[in-house]
Amino acid sequence: MFDSLSPQPQDPLLALIGLYNSDTRTDKVDLGVGVFRDETGHTPVMRAVKAAERVLLDTQDSKSYVAPEGDRVFIDLLWTVVGGTDCGKAVAGVQAPGGSGALRLAADLLAKAGKTRVWVGVPTWANHLGIFGSAGLSVQTYPYFDVPSQAVQFDRMTAALESAEAGDAVLLHASCHNPTGAQLTAAQWAVVAEIVARKGLIPLIDSAYQGFGAGLEEDAAGLRTVIAAAAESLVAVSCSKFFGLYRERTGAVYAVGGSQSAVETARSNLVTIARTSYSMPPDHGSAVVRTILATPELKADWIAELNDMRGRLISLRQGLATAIGNHWAGSTAVAGQQGMFSLLPMKEADILALRKDHGIYMPTSGRINIAGLKQADVARVAATFVPLLG
Ligand SMILES: Cc1ncc(COP(=O)(O)O)c(C=O)c1O
Repeated sequence: MFDSLSPQPQDPLLALIGLYNSDTRTDKVDLGVGVFRDETGHTPVMRAVKAAERVLLDTQDSKSYVAPEGDRVFIDLLWTVVGGTDCGKAVAGVQAPGGSGALRLAADLLAKAGKTRVWVGVPTWANHLGIFGSAGLSVQTYPYFDVPSQAVQFDRMTAALESAEAGDAVLLHASCHNPTGAQLTAAQWAVVAEIVARKGLIPLIDSAYQGFGAGLEEDAAGLRTVIAAAAESLVAVSCSKFFGLYRERTGAVYAVGGSQSAVETARSNLVTIARTSYSMPPDHGSAVVRTILATPELKADWIAELNDMRGRLISLRQGLATAIGNHWAGSTAVAGQQGMFSLLPMKEADILALRKDHGIYMPTSGRINIAGLKQADVARVAATFVPLLG
């Protein structure tokens, strides 16, 4: 049987990690996989996470099952961060193995409810296509970003959404989740919310980088505008990035709607989907997040460290954009983007040459993770980029 299967290509981003690790140059630079790094290139365990783990070590007295939907206190506390203390809607959530697991539950729920189409922006994360395809949904695309001009194609985006049909799902990237770094303005979020509500579309919002843009509350505004307007929404939340819990596979998916009974029905279906896939989510990461969010001092320290992480990203971004300066017209746009990512107009051959000649590793799409820079790298990386941009 195994021989009848065809070998699958390795995920290009994961393959890039292997290439980077096997490069022996000491001045190599990793702008690939989307993890936060500090100035030493390390992805730290956040202080509040360590403190919460100490609390759990001392107080956790059982490893018995929690509940099919996961830890309800975690689910409810995480929602207060994402949706606010009162979003004006009925909400029911289910814990999930990371943001990707949350997306898969949401996609399976859409399919189970008889929905067939989901609209995604171009560009988007590769795994959106994989997850939605695996769930049996047909993927439609809306234009989002023009790489050469570094501009959001908002008129083209809204025109495409106007052509969607009632009941279609629309994947939206919450703050800083977009691989382009380009955000919608508050006014643009309001326009999207109006279209989604008027046309009866179902927003599926993928949120992973809250706090990496302008601030924890500020970054939730667009998402909250959409869920307030839409009749029903799905929100997939990852704790991988803003709690730094990547390997703990921590997240949740929320059904947001008009009546408690409707969202509870959605929740029961999400639980059934989870039960027949992996039964129950892992507990450790959610217990950490619950402990942090339920303990004011830990929550304050988590936010303080998240603010410092954002400060580092902003400083690196401004440094890179300034160093590129007027050598490339897009540098002003890059300076105005937010979060860890930007998508640069570079040719694949040049990106491969960057790896070989300079030890600078980035995906062939031109998407860079700014957190992979060290302050000392900025001038050298900018100088190697300049002849390749445009
Ligand atoms: C499309 C998408 N959304 C969200 C995430 C969030 O990360 P995680 O699934 O590790 O929580 C990822 C990361 O792989 C992703 O590819």
